[in-house]
Amino acid sequence: MNKVEASAPGKLMLFGEHSVVYGYPSIVTAVGQRIFVEVQEKNDDKFSVIAPEQGVDDYTKSIAHLGDDSVPRAVVFLEFLYKRFIEQYPKACGVQVTTRSEFSSQFGFGSSSAVTVAFAKALSELFEIKITKNELFQLCYKTVIDVQNIGSGFDLASAIWGGTIYYVKPAKIVQYLTSEEPPLVVGYTGIKADTTRLVRMVEQEKKNNPMKITKIFEEITRIVELAKTEIIAQNWLQVGRLMTENQLLLEELGVSSPELQTLIQASNSAGAFGAKLSGAGGGDCMIAVSSAITKSTIERNIEKANGQVLRVHTNAVGTKLERVHDL
Ligand code: PMV
Repeated sequence: MNKVEASAPGKLMLFGEHSVVYGYPSIVTAVGQRIFVEVQEKNDDKFSVIAPEQGVDDYTKSIAHLGDDSVPRAVVFLEFLYKRFIEQYPKACGVQVTTRSEFSSQFGFGSSSAVTVAFAKALSELFEIKITKNELFQLCYKTVIDVQNIGSGFDLASAIWGGTIYYVKPAKIVQYLTSEEPPLVVGYTGIKADTTRLVRMVEQEKKNNPMKITKIFEEITRIVELAKTEIIAQNWLQVGRLMTENQLLLEELGVSSPELQTLIQASNSAGAFGAKLSGAGGGDCMIAVSSAITKSTIERNIEKANGQVLRVHTNAVGTKLERVHDL
């Protein structure tokens, strides 16, 4: 019985949140913190999960019933992924799945997408199935849609390809932009963003006021295109300024929050090149672009404003095989 472990990184959205859901481009970077998923074949027909960070110490279901009844939130992406995987690759059997995370699922770093991708990667290695990045994406994207019905898949693409990518859904365009780490300071508000609620809110607003929202999305897209050029040129001053412009449009969209605003202002007044919320808004994290000289001043200011500084590397590698045990 073989055992393999794969990992996938978390992410931070740099530009283009919300508009990306409607087919406009976005830019996302993978962070250094990862989620690890170990998978071991079993001699039965059971799908079992141990996920200590999620408070799951032994969840078991028979393979024939995957996706049936109410599935606990903590295992829902793993369970639906395995259901999809078995439909596509019928040689699969019972498996023991164990997860481990280097970051809290509260931060908005994309723990659900990272765990889904790491599990899919581990399964493909365990069952020796040759699978391209695009095929891995399609499998994971179907799973995310099964579970939450909405989503651009930018977080899955980041977990699969890693680096800093220009992304159009559903992985129609994935383009690496830089070999250098975007120099970010990350401030966590302490509030969990409700991504689904915010995406639905923007959807409703788009129905009520299509001209206004389409214009905001087109403006965001103009910024994404400029940011793409500046990231390729590693011109971080301009990248920061474009973040501030993107932030103003997100405020107009109504997805920012007082806590995000406070941390963004704290960063800008400490000399950041620019700052914005990252992700759906309403909470989670903000990001600021900084020079090496102002970085610690920005960090101190974020902490003084009641934010938590999350020290991350950016431009991290995408999903990878970590270990194979021949038992
Ligand atoms: O809240 P997050 O970090 O999952 O980001 C959501 C980004 C959105 O564009 C609002 C939704 C999406 O699926 O792209």
